[in-house]
Amino acid sequence: MAKMTIRDVELGGKKVLMRVDFNVPLGDEGNITDDTRIRAALPTIRYAVEHGARLVLMSHLGRPKGKVIPEMSLAPAAARLSELLSRPVRQLSDCVGPEVEAAVGEMKDGDVVLLENLRFHPEEEENDAAFSKKLAALGEVYVNDAFGTAHRAHASTQGVTRHVAPAVSGFLLEKEIRFFTTVLEDPDHPFIAVMGGAKVSDKIGAIENLLEGIDCLLIGGGMSYTFLKAGGGAIGNSMVEEDKLDTARRITDLAREKNVELVLPEDHLVADDFSETANRRVVKGDIPEGWMALDIGPETTAGFVDKLKKAKMVVWNGPMGVFEMEPFAAGTNAVAEALAESDATTIIGGGDSVAAVEQAGLSDRMSHISTGGGAALEFLEGKELSGLAALSDK
Ligand code: 3PG
Repeated sequence: MAKMTIRDVELGGKKVLMRVDFNVPLGDEGNITDDTRIRAALPTIRYAVEHGARLVLMSHLGRPKGKVIPEMSLAPAAARLSELLSRPVRQLSDCVGPEVEAAVGEMKDGDVVLLENLRFHPEEEENDAAFSKKLAALGEVYVNDAFGTAHRAHASTQGVTRHVAPAVSGFLLEKEIRFFTTVLEDPDHPFIAVMGGAKVSDKIGAIENLLEGIDCLLIGGGMSYTFLKAGGGAIGNSMVEEDKLDTARRITDLAREKNVELVLPEDHLVADDFSETANRRVVKGDIPEGWMALDIGPETTAGFVDKLKKAKMVVWNGPMGVFEMEPFAAGTNAVAEALAESDATTIIGGGDSVAAVEQAGLSDRMSHISTGGGAALEFLEGKELSGLAALSDK
């Protein structure tokens, strides 16, 4: 990577201001239901602590829109991090201001504090210069390890780098960028992209950019019915984005032009209602009125698995069906299993496919599971990530 990393700087005795992405899902009781993002930042956090840094962590959680919303406090994240590190992590009551400055001033080498949710201040998302300067005053070195937020040009990801140097990447950000750069610039072939999930609209840019390098595109999930309808198929009551039919045709044409094999579902598990208890059956080809497809069918699944077996690199974004409901999880699970069995480099990007891999208990059998949803898609689209661009060059 052309950017400086945490390995390139002296940390001992220094105040190290580190942006992490602890935007974790919380249950009704304020409990963390998935701590993946906290665990993913541990290598960088441990490295800083072991090198004697005075570590000031900062993150957002949710979208409080510039207001203090107690349910979006980072206190549960501080508690979880403390358990994982087996050392105290002091949760501060704000992210800027005299109390925060005093608390940071008292820190000793190896201490860890977590600032309160950055987005309780509107200036964070506004990338406000004065707010960025206040954050920057809390560190002598800035580290960004928040891949999930690297596409945001906010005070804690971009503005702050104008006032503290060096600004370097942590290990998680570095690793994510390494995998996704290989995907775009130096993939192994055959290279297959598996795209799914509800909407094609979220993924148009990524699909178009991936068509430059992939050999085969497997499309399943909700978005496949927009493609099938665009190609003249009958899709019954399946989900469709009517305003994206032209886009689907354009992508189909582009795939042909680029010599990329585009594979759509040929059979479907359909239901007469969007419910776990609905009547269901497998249909081949056209889907009758009154029925909606909620998973790819067994023949499609077998065909996808067969192709995946021959791949050397696979990027997967988006489930093949409504995997949250057990009767419609088979297609998604089969893709997850095929990737787990495969010797290919397997990269899982995007919230829902990550959840599916975790639900199937196969996370540790993938080459890389991204902690970024929007950030991963923007990188795959070929866009520059603001938080990465802002870091000091090597
Ligand atoms: C995410 O969950 O994708 C990141 O934490 C970024 O969150 P945001 O979409 O609210 O900026």
